[in-house]
Amino acid sequence: MASLFSRKVIAWQATHGRHSLPWQMRQGPYSVWLSEVMLQQTQVATVQNFYPQFLAKFPTVKSLAAAPLDDVLALWSGMGYYTRARNLHRAANQVMTDFGGEFPKTAEGLEQLVGVGRSTAAAIAAFCYGERVAILDGNVKRVLARVLAFEGDLANAAQVRLLWDKAIALLPTHNLKKTMPAYTQGLMDMGATLCHARAPDCVSCPVASICKASISKACEAYPIKKKKLKRSTESIWLLHATRKSRQGDAVLLQQRPLDGASKVWAGLFSLPPFASEAALQAAVPQALHPQLVFQPVFKHVLTHKDMWLHVVRVQLPANSKLPAVQGDWFALGDALLLGLPAPIRKLLAAQ
Ligand code: ADE
Repeated sequence: MASLFSRKVIAWQATHGRHSLPWQMRQGPYSVWLSEVMLQQTQVATVQNFYPQFLAKFPTVKSLAAAPLDDVLALWSGMGYYTRARNLHRAANQVMTDFGGEFPKTAEGLEQLVGVGRSTAAAIAAFCYGERVAILDGNVKRVLARVLAFEGDLANAAQVRLLWDKAIALLPTHNLKKTMPAYTQGLMDMGATLCHARAPDCVSCPVASICKASISKACEAYPIKKKKLKRSTESIWLLHATRKSRQGDAVLLQQRPLDGASKVWAGLFSLPPFASEAALQAAVPQALHPQLVFQPVFKHVLTHKDMWLHVVRVQLPANSKLPAVQGDWFALGDALLLGLPAPIRKLLAAQ
């Protein structure tokens, strides 16, 4: 599959890819770097207008490094994202001072330049040196996610790393000086001209017959976009009742049912929870109400919900009971050996 894929991309690039973009008259890493940085966040059509003027004004990395930043920014104006222009100027100076005026000859070295990330470094190294390194910009992520029916969520860094590994496995393995530039440009061209986010042109695509998403007519399902979990909030009132015992303070805990409506603390021992302040008060004899101490509310963050915990303390005389509250009394030391929800453990440990 890997070699078939790269051969099809390369063959298609030769006949149907883009060949006359100004930066394709490759004169070396300086002009390729310049174009790749411009293309990071600006459309090809806009870059085509700016690139020739920029290169005419700053024909070498030396001239760019020596120019006042204001001149660079002035020529950049119209392309937006000016951090790139500032980084470009800084990187030109890095090349002059840290690399003796020569661009690094590997993707790894190129990545040390400010403003050059892993994908941009790979593009420059593949185009200029035929290095066997993978690009993975937004378009290429889409192409590869479809070809492989990649199920990972690309909002997740570990899944993106996995896709990088798969991108490397698909790279050409022979005649790299020729194949790497053609393959890299081919992937970019397929991403830009065929494998659109919406309504991709599978009929014209050279890899449709081996593209898992296309075969199952599910292109638009990839890359997978995981629905963001809708966060909810819940308030609970926790009765923190203590009484003196022979082993020191004892605390009233209730084991949460395994099959209760809320699964959050199922099976764990909690301070007796109530859905409202009124429900808590109703469970405590009227005579004790003046002794209830309302603690400051605190937030406990779970992956899918924020829980606002309202702890209400009450200290009872030895041996007293709360007949309307389910639970058992535990000496504090024993309580800390039970399965406790993290915020309850913290609370008891601080007692
Ligand atoms: N986008 C990023 N790099 C590109 C390139 N070299 N050609 C076309 N589009 C690109």
